[in-house]
Amino acid sequence: MTKEELVKAAVGAMAKAYAPYSGFQVGAALLCEDGTVYTGCNIENAGFSATVCAERTAFFKAVSDGKMHFSAIAICGGKNGILSGDILPPCGICRQVMREFCSDDFLIHMPYDQGIKTHTLAELLPLSFAPESIR
Ligand code: THU
Repeated sequence: MTKEELVKAAVGAMAKAYAPYSGFQVGAALLCEDGTVYTGCNIENAGFSATVCAERTAFFKAVSDGKMHFSAIAICGGKNGILSGDILPPCGICRQVMREFCSDDFLIHMPYDQGIKTHTLAELLPLSFAPESIR
């Protein structure tokens, strides 16, 4: 699975977003180490704090299916389903969820109008609080 293919899966997932309040549709595609891909979209709620991001949807689908080892995630989004030209970096809560299941070298692919920007989880969440922190 190339990063371009993973981004394509994320773009497809955007269409499933339930975003009646913000109109901002987000898609994510999570690549497991065994090669399987789980997609996710944002799911909003009238009680705004109950909204869940696309990235966490993808992670929770995968973990609830017994997957625990991940290599990369692609994330994209845009207003009213139109892909934004800018990267969509994951929110802080999603970064923390990634840290629960992923190592420092987990890759985060973010498409934009010039290509795909990739960062490791360690770059996006330095000095993190992790499972090892409470052992
Ligand atoms: N959102 C995501 O799905 N992922 C992010 O990393 C940032 C924000 C969603 C939440 C909400 O439904 C909408 O984007 C606007 O914040």
